[in-house]
Amino acid sequence: MHDPETIHDDAPATNTSGNRPFEDILNARIGRRMVLGGTLAGAIGTLFVSPASAASRAVAAGAKNQSGRPSPRPLVGFEPIPLNFSGQAVVSPDYTIEVLVPWGTPLSSGTPDFSWPVSSAADQSDQVGIGHDGMWFFPLDHKSNDHGVLVMNHEFGTNGHVFGQALPSSAEQVAVSQAAHGCSAIEIMRDNSGTWQVVPSDRSRRITVNTPVEFSGPVAGSPLIENAAGNEFQGTLNNCANGYTPWGTYLTCEENFNGYFGTEEAGWVGNDAQQRYGFSTTGFDYGWHLYDPRFDLSNPDYANQGNRFGWVVEIDPNRPDRKPVKRTALGRVKHEGAATTVGRGGRVVVYMGDDERFDYIYKFVSARNYKSMIAKGQSPLDHGTLYVARFNEDGSGDWLELSLNNPDVAAVFSSMDEVLTFARMAADAAGATPMDRPEWTTVAPNGDVYCTLTNNTRRTEADAANPQAPNPDGHIIRWRDSDRHVGTSFEWDIFILASSTTNTDYGFGSPDGLWADPDGRVFIETDGTQPQGANDQMLVADPSTGEIRRLFSGPKGCEVTGIAVTPDRRTMFLNIQHPGNGDPELTLFPFLGDPVPRDSTIVLQRKDGGIIGS
Ligand code: FEO
Ligand code: CA
Ligand code: CA
Ligand code: CA
Repeated sequence: MHDPETIHDDAPATNTSGNRPFEDILNARIGRRMVLGGTLAGAIGTLFVSPASAASRAVAAGAKNQSGRPSPRPLVGFEPIPLNFSGQAVVSPDYTIEVLVPWGTPLSSGTPDFSWPVSSAADQSDQVGIGHDGMWFFPLDHKSNDHGVLVMNHEFGTNGHVFGQALPSSAEQVAVSQAAHGCSAIEIMRDNSGTWQVVPSDRSRRITVNTPVEFSGPVAGSPLIENAAGNEFQGTLNNCANGYTPWGTYLTCEENFNGYFGTEEAGWVGNDAQQRYGFSTTGFDYGWHLYDPRFDLSNPDYANQGNRFGWVVEIDPNRPDRKPVKRTALGRVKHEGAATTVGRGGRVVVYMGDDERFDYIYKFVSARNYKSMIAKGQSPLDHGTLYVARFNEDGSGDWLELSLNNPDVAAVFSSMDEVLTFARMAADAAGATPMDRPEWTTVAPNGDVYCTLTNNTRRTEADAANPQAPNPDGHIIRWRDSDRHVGTSFEWDIFILASSTTNTDYGFGSPDGLWADPDGRVFIETDGTQPQGANDQMLVADPSTGEIRRLFSGPKGCEVTGIAVTPDRRTMFLNIQHPGNGDPELTLFPFLGDPVPRDSTIVLQRKDGGIIGS
């Protein structure tokens, strides 16, 4: 049991568009481009893949460092760890770990510390939430390695883990669950002993489904987000992975928002759009609709409430007075993450996965140079073009425009607010390639973009970009865009096919979190079945040599997710989500004295003070 979508494995696939362009070309693609785990390295915990042969381009170009010169030595040198089956986190002997901001940590001095079941919604609203996921560290003065604001997502926590019941029996319990979700901004500082601490700060705040927010971009003002009950816009939900912008803000991504809605109306069936986004009578069994009419699918006063979620939301860590802003130009899907880079002409480019079986990979390109847009008072995330990816069998790819300029989209929709609010359906019409659950994306310094495709047990027909059917362990795909990220074509290959059943001492399954550092190392975090049933883990890949080593493993039952660093990369923050799946019999991570395990951030530092992962 990991993500909500895995818990609800019986949910029907929602993409019935029939986009299956490549069923016949599997063998040709595998023969030429697949990069499958090969040589066993000397040390346990190390996996080698062949660097991509890449007939058409130099995909091993990660061998260059930031300066563009060839790397003098391999990027990965730490002592790897074996598989971990314990209730504890384990890291390479070259590193130290400490625990920071577990669920329930108070953000102000007047708020009580964690207790279980959670004492009240009011307390939880000023304590760190549950379900730690994507995050980023925003250094004070843009450069401090010792002091900054950690902004973090709280994706989900089951009712059983949060308040000890399967379904809520009061409005207060629903309010507790709501307060446990959302985001935290937490000011932290490293003390003289090298230990990271929470410091009292006006910058620290919680953002939940009850926090006032704004809509911006083409869907702002649209009737598609109006409710008869009024247009007070509140909140963000199921905040999964994230992004961070060149202008110093945080992007939180709303993923499985459908799971918080439900209805008591027997036999309720949503309209086509509601079905495409997976709304159902019970959702993921949170039962919020039993006490909060906003989440009741049958309540006519909130008919468009579901359209208010599924967006990428911008948070300014240094301006706690500012409302979070839903950036609708980036489309409404089950957003996993929003990896941001600067492309040709200074345009900002955002890569995004939509994590559902057979859903798509998207990219947004700002209209103009982001600095000139900001200088004119425009957000670069409000004006631009949204695209969806089509992976061709020959290793080429196309970014298909999701606007009325595209005749395939214009055949279905007549306005941009519809195209963006129902972006999945626009992408169906455009002919995008259905993928094996796109999770995180990351942009390497050489321009390669990587995306984890975590798994897809429902795939019955393989294609070039999703070459395993079924695909229980997932893979990582890689591409390079034309025209320095702003073009409409790309070349792609498969970086690795994950496996939990071969290479059982050193392999991995279900890649999810992903981050390429400025030297080109690729950090891979897992969420799913690992070799021999071991715990989820974080590995580090050197694309120039093909080597992958295991750096860290979380406690039993957790997912390892979220990744952030200080500017000098000598401190790394990771998140341990749902340790023990909330079951105290499996682990009491991180504190043995607690009644239940607690989602937590882990701080990694090297004993010699070096760069993490090297
Ligand atoms: Fe929230 Fe797809 O992981
Ligand atoms: Ca998760
Ligand atoms: Ca994920
Ligand atoms: Ca996942």
